[in-house]
Parts: sequence; structure tokens; C-alpha cells
Amino acid sequence: MSKKSNDNSSQKTFTLTNNETGESCELPIVEGTYGPHCIDIRKLHAQTGYFTLDPSFTATGSCKSRLTYIDGEEGILMHRGYDIKELAVKSSYLEVCYLLINGELPTQAELDEFTYHITNHTMVHEQIKSIYQGFRRDAHPMAIMCGVVGAMSAFYHDSLDINDPEQRMISAHRLVAKIPTLAAMAMKYSKGQPFVYPRNDLSYAENFLHMCFSVPAEEYKLRPPVVRAMERILILHADHEQNASTSTVRIAGSSGANPFACIASGITSLWGPSHGGANQMVLEMLNEIGHKDNIPEFIKRAKDKEDPFRLMGFGHRVYKNYDPRAEIMRESCHEVLEELGIKDDPQLELAMELEKIALNDPYFKDRKLFPNVDFYSGIILKAMGFPTEMFTVLFAVSRTVGWISQWKEMMEEPSLRIGRPRQLYTGAPSRAYVPVKKRKVVKKSA
Ligand code: CMC
Repeated sequence: MSKKSNDNSSQKTFTLTNNETGESCELPIVEGTYGPHCIDIRKLHAQTGYFTLDPSFTATGSCKSRLTYIDGEEGILMHRGYDIKELAVKSSYLEVCYLLINGELPTQAELDEFTYHITNHTMVHEQIKSIYQGFRRDAHPMAIMCGVVGAMSAFYHDSLDINDPEQRMISAHRLVAKIPTLAAMAMKYSKGQPFVYPRNDLSYAENFLHMCFSVPAEEYKLRPPVVRAMERILILHADHEQNASTSTVRIAGSSGANPFACIASGITSLWGPSHGGANQMVLEMLNEIGHKDNIPEFIKRAKDKEDPFRLMGFGHRVYKNYDPRAEIMRESCHEVLEELGIKDDPQLELAMELEKIALNDPYFKDRKLFPNVDFYSGIILKAMGFPTEMFTVLFAVSRTVGWISQWKEMMEEPSLRIGRPRQLYTGAPSRAYVPVKKRKVVKKSA
């Protein structure tokens, strides 16, 4: 097949020619606001009989979206056209939530109303407590989250009609409002401490810290730099276009599944170490490295193709430049450690040294492997007192708004059809069934 793009007509097209048969097929080119243009291949199969093959979706757009834009070469991340660096410093998490869900920044009155809706729906049904009791105390909190978020479908029957825009919005608000409560309950359960009810007089970030760290015997003292860092962690993880978990949510939603079930599916996908699970793995890796002197050995291992070890918190499918979120997180990291009096933290020193060495190493430079957001968030969360198992849960708390906004956008699409990828079958050719008694024993080579 050869290809050429035809830009002369008003509808730009891309012509594919089959070198064997000489047949050609013209496909429309669609353009977004930014980013590479896309070849719309929806008619390709009907016109040529061919499918395309892109197993890890490295060059395939799965949808049109107005939410988030990433320029991986330039290290740019924008939500609804607003730069993440500006949002992280000037905005609040709930304002960003409003922006993602509704498309525009709110007026003061709209923000007040939204804040009221979220803040006043932070409690969960009392019976949800008993679901936690079904888990072992040492259950990973992400395992608990997969279960309890899906179980919310059983409690909110009044907002499960996915074809009703009002019910979709109620579900979106419920999820954003209740996810910190569920996450804090998962943490309390594993610690063997009583669940802490939400407080509506606190901000979203303050309330989350309160529910995670206060105990009946002692109120948690909220420190402004820590609250600010929490707010930033929430903002920086709010959405990230069509990553693995978001794509999971979209594909689950495309079948008509309810929003709570869809978000639970996103949580399962986020759990993996190549995605949200990386922040926990960063800390575990730093513990494993142990001392600055051991860094060269681990760098060597990361480069060795025979060794599965990778430098956790480094590299990104889309960013081939510094992750803009990592830059902001790096600043917050220093601020929090200073506020908490954690000076000369050996783990931070180790992290800084690792960063320096990796950034100057040709292996990492050539492959454009920069530190990503998870590299620093783990250190901050540890300093705040979160157990490492909670790190990915925190990511899920922040990302819930992104998932539900993407789900909502997809449900509003009039041309929505169930997502159904195709495949290249490479299995056995058609063969006749042989009854078990007549089957020959085939010796497997070692
Ligand atoms: N350490 C060592 N080598 C690496 C690393 C790493 N962290 N990341 C990528 N490489 C190498 C990889 O071996 C390959 O080398 P070669 O070209 O010689 O075969 C090259 O870089 C390209 O890697 P890839 O696996 O093709 O890249 P990918 O886009 O499929 O994977 C990634 C992206 C994030 C899964 C990967 O970089 C990784 O595993 N990083 C560590 C885990 C991590 O920090 N994940 C969090 C991502 S950010 C949070 C989020 O958005 O979820």
C-alpha cells in the first residue's frame, strides 16, 4: 500500500493505494483544534475489506473530545483550553471539576452552587460501611475501591438512567462528592480505626485530609501548605485525555453500563504499575535502592533488556518532554517537606540524585524518558502520612472527575455506538473436532 494526502479540495482526504491490486481508497481527514490530523478510517473496511492494526493504540484516536489536550513534545497539558500550570496555581480543585464537567469556568454564583452540591453530598449510605467489613483488614485499598464504587450502583437507583441528562449530572456530582469519603474509609479500615464522617464546613481537600487523619481522640491539624499540596495533587491528576483507565471507562460506558460501574472499571485499570500504580512503585523502588551509592546498579538494571526492572516514575507514552505536572509537583514537594520539618530527607535526596543521573544518561535522554507526575507525588504523599498503598487510591479520587466528564461527553454524543475493536486472527486454521479417545498425545518440547 502507498499513501498520499490530497489537500486541494475543501474536504481533505488521504488516499491509500494497494500496491498489489492498484485499487485505491480515499479517506476523509479530520482536523481538531490542535494536534495531528486524523484519517477517518470508519469506511475503510467497507471500501477495501481491510482492518487497521494498532494493538497498543499508539496512532489511533478512539474519539473526538473537547476536554483535555496534551502536546507531548512540548510538555503542554490543557483542560478546556486552560493551561494546567495556571490552573494548578490560580484555581481550586472544585473549580477545575466544574470546568471539566460543564465546559466553562463557573461564575461566582455557579461555583457557589456547585460547591454546595458537592459539599452537601459527601456522606455515603450507612449500609455501605458493612461492605468494608467483608474485606480482610490487609486488603489493598484499591481492591476495596473497585468493590465499593461498583456497589454504589446498588444504592443510587434514582440516578441510573443513563439517557436522562439530569440523572447523568446527579451521578457525576455524587461520584465527585463521595469518592473521597469512600477512599478515606478504605484507609481507616486498613488501619483498624473508626470511619470518620465528612465535615461540610471544610474545603474538598481539607475534608479529605480530615477524614483520612483525624481520630475520635484527636482532631487533625490542617496546615495550609499541606492542604495546598493536596489541592494541587487533586488538580494535577484530574484528567489526562484518553489514557488506559479513561479509555476503559469509555468502552465500558459505550455498552450502556451505569456510571458507577464504569468508574469502578476505570479504577481497576488505573491500579496497574504502568499507570496509576506507579506512584506506589516509586516509593517501593526508592526503598529498594536504599542509598545513593546503589543508584548506578539500578540504572544499569533499568537499561538491561533481559531485566524487567524499570525506573518507576520515569517515561510516558505521550510526554516526550518534561511532564508539566511533574514540574509543579516538584515545587510542592519541597514546600511540603519544609512545612513538615522534613529536612535532609534521605529518600528525597535519593530521588533528586536519581533524577539528575537519569536526566544526564544517554539511554534516558535518547528515549526522552523524563520524570513523570508519579515520581514526586509519592514523596509528598508519604510526607503527609499516607501509607504507600493509598497512593493509587488518591490518584483515583482526583481522576474520578475526569472519568465521569469523559463518560458524560461520550453519552452526549448522538452517534454513540458500542466500542468494539477488531483483531487480526493468528490462531489455528479451521479443523475437525477429534473425540478425546482418538486424540494423539503430542509431546511438548521443553
Ligand atoms: N525505565 C527504563 N526504560 C524505560 C522506561 C523506564 N521507566 N520507560 C520506557 N523505557 C524504555 C523502554 O524499554 C523502551 O526502550 P527500547 O526502545 O530500547 O525498547 C523505550 O523506553 C520506550 O518504552 P515503551 O515501553 O515503548 O514506552 P510506552 O509508551 O509503551 O510506556 C510507560 C510508557 C509509562 C508505561 C513506561 O515509560 C513505564 O513503564 N514507565 C514506568 C512506569 C510509570 O512511571 N508509569 C506512570 C506513567 S505517568 C502516570 C499516568 O499517567 O498513569
